[in-house]
Amino acid sequence: MVTITIDSVKLEVDENENVLEAALKNGIYIPHLCHHPDLPENASCRMCVVEVEGKDEIVTSCDLKPVEGMVINTKSERANKLRTLALELMLSGHPEDCSTCPKYGDCELQTLIQYVGANNARMRTRTKGIKMNEDNPLLIHDMNRCVLCGRCVRACNKLRGVGVLDYRKKDLETYVGTLHDKLLTDSDCRFCTACAQVCPTGSIRDKVQLINADLKREEALIPCKGECPAHTDIPRYIRYVKEGNCDAAAAVVREKAPFPHTLGMICTQSCAKQCKRGEVSDAMSIREIKRYAAEHDSGKYWKGKGKQLPDTGKKVCVVGSGPAGLTAAYYLRKQGHAVTVKEALPTVGGMMSYGIPAYRLPRDIVAKEADVIANQGVKFETDTKVTDILGLKKEYDAILMAIGNHVGVRLPMEGNENEGVLLNIEFLRKASLGKPTGMGKKVIVLGGGNVAFDCARTAKRLGADEIHLACLEARDKMTADEEEIEQAIEEGIKIYPAQTFERITGDKVVTGVDFMNVKDFYFDENRKAIIEKEEGSQHHIDADTVIFATGQWADLSEEQGLELGKGNSIKVKEGSLSSSVDGIFAAGDVVYGTKSVIQAIASGRDAASEIDRYLGGDGDITEVLAPVEEVDGYIGKEEGFANLKAACKQIKPASERGNNFDVFDFGICDSDICGEASRCLQCDLRLQIHQPRLWTQYSDQKEA
Ligand code: FES
Repeated sequence: MVTITIDSVKLEVDENENVLEAALKNGIYIPHLCHHPDLPENASCRMCVVEVEGKDEIVTSCDLKPVEGMVINTKSERANKLRTLALELMLSGHPEDCSTCPKYGDCELQTLIQYVGANNARMRTRTKGIKMNEDNPLLIHDMNRCVLCGRCVRACNKLRGVGVLDYRKKDLETYVGTLHDKLLTDSDCRFCTACAQVCPTGSIRDKVQLINADLKREEALIPCKGECPAHTDIPRYIRYVKEGNCDAAAAVVREKAPFPHTLGMICTQSCAKQCKRGEVSDAMSIREIKRYAAEHDSGKYWKGKGKQLPDTGKKVCVVGSGPAGLTAAYYLRKQGHAVTVKEALPTVGGMMSYGIPAYRLPRDIVAKEADVIANQGVKFETDTKVTDILGLKKEYDAILMAIGNHVGVRLPMEGNENEGVLLNIEFLRKASLGKPTGMGKKVIVLGGGNVAFDCARTAKRLGADEIHLACLEARDKMTADEEEIEQAIEEGIKIYPAQTFERITGDKVVTGVDFMNVKDFYFDENRKAIIEKEEGSQHHIDADTVIFATGQWADLSEEQGLELGKGNSIKVKEGSLSSSVDGIFAAGDVVYGTKSVIQAIASGRDAASEIDRYLGGDGDITEVLAPVEEVDGYIGKEEGFANLKAACKQIKPASERGNNFDVFDFGICDSDICGEASRCLQCDLRLQIHQPRLWTQYSDQKEA
């Protein structure tokens, strides 16, 4: 350590760091532009010039090493003059109008101009005339705004070791670009977007602007994690799978959700829909990577580990054992409460056991994951239907209603009570229990979501000869996953999008359905469905069975004492999961309607946290299970990286899967999984790069 004086302030500083860093660290602002705390210095902008007592020449503080007794003046007239001149020279080649720049208000150059008080009016300004390049995925290159600070070049070469960006020259104008001006995709770019992160102006910037007020910076930078309702750390577990450490990967998932294997089989993966890799080639196979981790997990990092607080003496009853109920029960037990789960059906799991067909989610997977919850000390009472909800208050300190939506919606239309009309959830439940469903041989499923496809494909496996699926939505607006639709078609299920259901025909017994084609279908400003039918398009399909798959709601009535909301949901207080009755909470589908398993898990977590606070705890259910790794950001170049396609899954052909409930999708094989995980852009690496700290954030400036 050495003692130096900067602007009359005596400082003890490390002799290995430069004077600029030492000053900034100690809250003394020295203007700078090419300096970035995570990059090696190139001392090109000359913004950081200072005067050193005893030296004639002005020096740049970013490459000045401190020596004992050094006295530095950062605000001398000479330094200010030189800085202003350097900045004005820079500005002579920069567009004058800041207000049209997407980085307006968030630009380091702009704040520097304000600080230095420079203006380019004294210089002859010129336009660089370099065309903005918007042809690359994820990034925009607008070299007219570039001030050649070189941060992006250093980030690409030194920080990441990729070496795609460099200085280029054209018509006497220097700019930053790729060799032969190739697209980043063809230049082996890794799309880590570190260049955009360090750019102090809007020259290299993200296509999707991160200035989205609705999203936190981290959520916007790592959209998969941001989009996951439980905010699972997806890049972290993908990295572990790449390294062959499935134990750690599964533990990362377990930090947020007690059903890694279930999710690996059936997650609707809103994460993958936002995956930035999808902009470059194919989105990451996030669900399959999670499945692989879960299938190869020995439990090393979580079995018998993790949080378990001492018993609190408080009793909680969870009504319903679907993903929301079981998740809440698990975390409430970990917080030390005695938890009993009451389930109306013979086994736990809710929709995971009685809604989602076994060919997508084998029951032993759910049972195994539920066992972990039981082993944590949660008591299960199956075949126990709760009707007297308020009565539970006598025995329990808190109650969570997580009963899901187990009653199918029967649309109000002619023939809806005919013999042969079935309801989605009842049909799937009976099929799961191996009970007779009442299905005939010619089936029409009404609805276009995942549940409708579960019904159609279950009907196929139960032996229906002909299966038709019709829905109101156009083909590209159907809410079911594309994979479900494609696989159903392969299995011989006929799909009819854009149809109105005019009537179910037949006198007491179903003979078919009359349809009309839909020309246009949309919701008006009052959320009212507007349907325009095609004139003269009436047509009929024969059937002996019609399955309504047009929604489901909760088996509840107001008489049970809880205030109900839209679609028979339990009404909860704003920003809370507390019902109209003190001590009774609600979570999962019964609150917000049918969504997904991961959404229910997230809701279960929220409920556990809120109930724990209600019972006197701190509500903190977070836990770290997997080792926390220092990640190396030096990722290096990889030939053809951008164009790598998603690994293929191993799937049995339709001819072998349509007559049984066995799993037919085996995910990604051992030899492909590492390659698939290696395709990740590792968006989380960007969080390692420091955010710019503007002059207004330095203590000496605040005092001034
Ligand atoms: Fe020192 Fe740019 S910050 S020369």
